[in-house]
Amino acid sequence: MNFLRGNFGTDTSSNMATSNSSAASASSASTIDFQSIAKSVDTAAGIAIGVFIAYSAYKNLSEAYRRGDPWRKFPLPPSPPGDFLLGHYRHVPEDESFRKYSEWSKKYNSDVLYFEALGTKWVVLNSYEAAHELLDVRGRKYSDRPRFVMFEEMGWAPTLTWLRLGPQWGLHRKVLAPPLTKTSVVYFQPLQKKQAMIMCKNLIENPEDWMSAVTHFAVSIMMKIAYGIDVDTPTDKWVKLAAEASEAVGKAGAPASSIMDRIPWTRHLPDWLPFMERLKYAHQNKKAIQDITERPFTKSMYDYYERYCDPIREIQECFVHKMTYQREKDARTNRQNDYHEENIKGGAATMLIAGNDTTASTVNLIILYLVKHPRVQRRAQAEVDYILLTTGIPPEPVKDYRPTTPAPWAASSSNRAGTIRLPSWADIPKFKYVNLVLQEVYRINPLSPLGIPHASVKDSNDIDPDGDDTYNGMRIPCGTIVYPNVWAMNRDEKRYREPERFFPERYLAKEEGGWGEPFPVGNFGFGRRICVGQHLAENSLLIAMAMMLATIEFDLPVGPDGNPKDFEPEFSHKGQSIVLPFEVSIKARSPVVNELLDRHILVAKMAEKAADGGKEAPPTPGI
Ligand code: HEM
Repeated sequence: MNFLRGNFGTDTSSNMATSNSSAASASSASTIDFQSIAKSVDTAAGIAIGVFIAYSAYKNLSEAYRRGDPWRKFPLPPSPPGDFLLGHYRHVPEDESFRKYSEWSKKYNSDVLYFEALGTKWVVLNSYEAAHELLDVRGRKYSDRPRFVMFEEMGWAPTLTWLRLGPQWGLHRKVLAPPLTKTSVVYFQPLQKKQAMIMCKNLIENPEDWMSAVTHFAVSIMMKIAYGIDVDTPTDKWVKLAAEASEAVGKAGAPASSIMDRIPWTRHLPDWLPFMERLKYAHQNKKAIQDITERPFTKSMYDYYERYCDPIREIQECFVHKMTYQREKDARTNRQNDYHEENIKGGAATMLIAGNDTTASTVNLIILYLVKHPRVQRRAQAEVDYILLTTGIPPEPVKDYRPTTPAPWAASSSNRAGTIRLPSWADIPKFKYVNLVLQEVYRINPLSPLGIPHASVKDSNDIDPDGDDTYNGMRIPCGTIVYPNVWAMNRDEKRYREPERFFPERYLAKEEGGWGEPFPVGNFGFGRRICVGQHLAENSLLIAMAMMLATIEFDLPVGPDGNPKDFEPEFSHKGQSIVLPFEVSIKARSPVVNELLDRHILVAKMAEKAADGGKEAPPTPGI
């Protein structure tokens, strides 16, 4: 059991104590105390590990027993061999497990794979057909979530993303989904456009810190929508707070895959035990989650009451203010309202966390692929230029042109997009090729390669009394966790030729010179748990892309010899699949761009202020 003492870093002193007992007895009382503490720690850890093994044996053998149960006609889906007692616990890699699942899927010639570890059962769906059938078509049965014990340890308030299927999930979804439908999100378009222009200005003015400009873009949109808070600059404290929380979540590992998620009582073990690193991580990062849940909410509520008492200013059209106003109104008229303050806090935090990091990480990927694929960037710019300069729809997707030569439709080389006008929302549906680039970014690098896991529940339509289900002759036990392997689906060679190649033209119809392939699937999830923020996110991404393409030239960074320096991007796959910071050369496409951006940003800010009664938000000390 010595390894259990490793983290105390005291092996030397305890060895000294045993090797020289007389010296030990003559030494101070603290050494004796330490020995007895170490012994009782060993005993407690021994008992914990014994209970842990017995529990896993029971749970694991019980499913192994069911595997051969003669009453169960259908076999479980195939799985690679596991260990006695521990099942597949040691076999599934923590990093890039989506690749391993995809390999196993080919090896066992099955799009559905089955795994067990320490009593937890999970299946991985490696094809769109399986994911669509189970998660979309049979969505009622597969809309639960596993319990996210690790996230509970991190201190999350009730959050739609992690809620189990049930009335509370229904209530949260009912409240969050309506303002985010395709038609409702039009309301947020002026805000998104303003922030896209500010992002481009920040990118041009401070290219070294380009990632902060992108984070600011995403955080400022979500802060305003959720809390009514204006986030003025990339160095604002709210950007830092949101970035810390995103990092805490992003590096927490794939959801529901920690030892606490597999065996919930292990959350009570000490976090210094060698196999409890994830518990330690949860404890270390708890503050980031508490801060992001509490501090913007406190500020928003403060502002709410300030505005409430001010006859000139109306309460903001943000989530917290609207929900609080509704609660107070319902209280005055004795109407039932189950969306308590804790729910409002959780709902707003969900929007911020689920909405800012995903959007920012996707913009980072877009910039990466534009830099690495100059031909794609030129073609997308050519399309934007064509539409901005002619205001028409190109008769066919516009072809590439070299950046130094004017596009055929431009009157002179200085007459280029971004110098006459900036993209508007009316232009967005016309940007066909720009949208294909976005789809290709989704396909080649899904942010959640294994989605957010669903879980199956008993359903009134079940034939099996235990709630087990069958798919293609395979049994899926009730309560199984289900991971859609979005990464594998979007690299399925039956759907995509040359899947590793970044090639937006693949989606064009064959008559247009493309391969006629389908758009990627699963990036925003499936069935009843599909992302509620999809339309808002897509609007943010499209206006950001259009604005960047109209105003900025992205290139490889310049090396010490003055030549472009190519690089291999690095990714992190802990939790979300994100690209790690990289260097990029960012320049305005023309000298007029800055002036144009300044003018439009000013107009957008004035319009926003006028809509707000013409007063600045009050300062809020100490929050
Ligand atoms: C590029 C941006 C985004 C991506 C790639 C993304 C992706 C996802 C994925 C994969 C899921 C899991 C769906 C499932 O379980 O099947 C999800 C759920 C969710 N997303 Fe997003 N999301 C994005 C932006 C947003 C935004 C902007 C918001 C909020 C305004 C948001 C709010 C949510 C919520 C609340 C859920 C949980 C839904 C539930 O469990 O019922 N997301 N998202």
